[in-house]
Amino acid sequence: MKQYKNVTIFDHPLIKHKVAILRDERTSMKEFRELIEEITTLMTFECLKEDVPTEERQVRTPLEVCTQQVIKDDSIVVVPILRAGLGMVNGVHVLFPTAKVGHIGLYRNEETLEPCEYYAKFPTGIEDKLVLIVDPMLATGGSACDAIQMLKKRGCKHIKFMAVIGAPEGVSRVAEAHPDVHIFVSTLDRCLNEKGYILPGLGDAGDRLFGTK
Ligand code: PRP
Ligand code: URA
Repeated sequence: MKQYKNVTIFDHPLIKHKVAILRDERTSMKEFRELIEEITTLMTFECLKEDVPTEERQVRTPLEVCTQQVIKDDSIVVVPILRAGLGMVNGVHVLFPTAKVGHIGLYRNEETLEPCEYYAKFPTGIEDKLVLIVDPMLATGGSACDAIQMLKKRGCKHIKFMAVIGAPEGVSRVAEAHPDVHIFVSTLDRCLNEKGYILPGLGDAGDRLFGTK
C-alpha cells in the first residue's frame, strides 16, 4: 500500500500478540470482546498523543502550587459504528472515562457492499469536539467514509478514525477521500475476498462480539 501521512499502522509486539489470538476461530466470545477492548486501549494511548485539546490547570502538591497540562473537560466524543464499533467503546473509556458517546448505525448490504444507514444520535455540541470514530473492521472503506461524511455534514472538523484490522483497499480509499482525518489501524491485512471480507482477517467482527450467526 502507498504511504499516507494521515495513516498510522501499529507495529507493536503486544498488539501483534493480541491480534493473533483475536483471529483464531477457537477464541471464545468473551475473550474476543476482552481482546478488542484491550487493543483499543493500546491504540487510544497513541491516538490521543497529538492534537488533543489541553488546558493549563493549577495543582497544589503537598509542597507548592504548579501549572499542569490536562485534557480539556468535555472535549472528546467517541462514535462507534454499530454494531461492532460498540465493542471498542470501553477500551477508550478505560483511559478517558468522561468521553461522551455518539452512535452511527450502518450495515453493509451483502450484495452491493454499500453501507446502509439506520441510526444516528450525537451529543450536543459535537461539532466543536475531537471526534474519535471506532469500528474494528475497515474493509472496503464504505462504512468509514459514510460515517466521516455524516459527521462532517454536522460540522465536525476534528475527526480521527480507529480500526483494529484494515484492508489496504479500504485504508487507501478513506485516506484519499479524507486527507484531514487521521486513520489509526492496528494491523494492515493482505486484501479483501470476493465477498468483501478481509483476509486473513478474523471473520465477522459483529457476530464474534455478540454471538450472532
Ligand atoms: C462491518 C464492520 C464495519 C463494516 C466494514 O459491519 O463492523 O462497520 O462491516 O466494512 P466496509 O469497510 O466494507 O464498509 P457490518 O456491516 O457487518 O455490520 P455489523 O457491525 O452490524 O455486523
Ligand atoms: N466486516 C467484518 O466484520 N469483517 C470483515 O472481514 C469485513 C467486514
